[in-house]
Amino acid sequence: MSELPDWQIEIDQGVVRWQADVDAADSLESLRSLEVRALGKAGEIPALMKRIPQIPPQDRKSFGQAVNALQGTVAAAIEARRLVLVEGLIDAELNDATFDAAVGAVPLKLGHPHPLSTVQADIEAIFTSMGFHVLDYPEIESEFDNFEALNIPGWHPAREMQDTFWLESGHLLRTHTSSGQVRAMHQFKAPFRAIFPGKVFRYEATDASHEHTFHQVEGLMIDRKVTVGHLLDSMRTLLSAILQREVEIRLRPGYFPFVEPGFELDIRCQVCAGEGCSACKRRGWLELLPCGLVHPNVLRAGGLDPDEWQGWAFGLGLSRLVMMRYGVPDVRLLMGGDLRFLSQF
Ligand code: DAH
Repeated sequence: MSELPDWQIEIDQGVVRWQADVDAADSLESLRSLEVRALGKAGEIPALMKRIPQIPPQDRKSFGQAVNALQGTVAAAIEARRLVLVEGLIDAELNDATFDAAVGAVPLKLGHPHPLSTVQADIEAIFTSMGFHVLDYPEIESEFDNFEALNIPGWHPAREMQDTFWLESGHLLRTHTSSGQVRAMHQFKAPFRAIFPGKVFRYEATDASHEHTFHQVEGLMIDRKVTVGHLLDSMRTLLSAILQREVEIRLRPGYFPFVEPGFELDIRCQVCAGEGCSACKRRGWLELLPCGLVHPNVLRAGGLDPDEWQGWAFGLGLSRLVMMRYGVPDVRLLMGGDLRFLSQF
């Protein structure tokens, strides 16, 4: 029996020793440092190669092969150990008493559009389909655009009809979306058709049908030949599309300084079906939509010649329309931010 050379014994022992070290590694971190110590660039196993000069020449080839084999064996042992450790981590996660994959998910509370936004989007869709622009004008307005340009000079009693939040700068919070009319005329010249939805503000006591902040949609159409018939037809299209049902309406003459003639379009109260309730102040009817033909002075303020151009305009109470559509009995609910109310939509 030939005796094994010393280097061979040393390498055989190395296999056993490294395997024991690998088995003793109890975390991925310690396994990793073991790997570096054994196989890394400056590791102990690659360093064995430096001993070749001391090996008898006839053994050098076998020595090199033995070192390579040792390297392969240790690398395989480390990989196998790593797998075991990772499995152990996964098992620990699965057995964690605080983790139960079978527990039902907590349902996410998803938001949804505010009813005002829903109805406004419907109105915008109807009017864009009829070739109207949808415009957005400032909530902080000049006295000129909110009043003067609309044929409401300072002395005019109509100013008292719209109690105004004045700002120290002399500007105001627009009391109606009509403030965009003359802006639109300057912006688009003529002809054009546009709606401008938005928030408006009134300095007044609140009740079931009055709120200091509410929503309107202004409509404006400028062309060479514009008639009341065309106005009414557009309003009928709008209301039946929005309320998705036949609604009873009535027209009364109405006075607004910026239209002549002016009308008041009333709609049968949808909350009480005409019986009388707090939303319609027991009248059975709700003022929904004032409208009329644009006053020549307004056209002039917009830089348009009233002998050449005419227009119709309406101011739709968006808040009221939402109340009608959903049967909301109190306008204050709309901007009140109460989720118990809003989550019903
Ligand atoms: N701006 C008026 C208001 O808020 C409503 C209005 C009336 C608008 C007649 C119009 C109109 O465009 O023609 O009270």
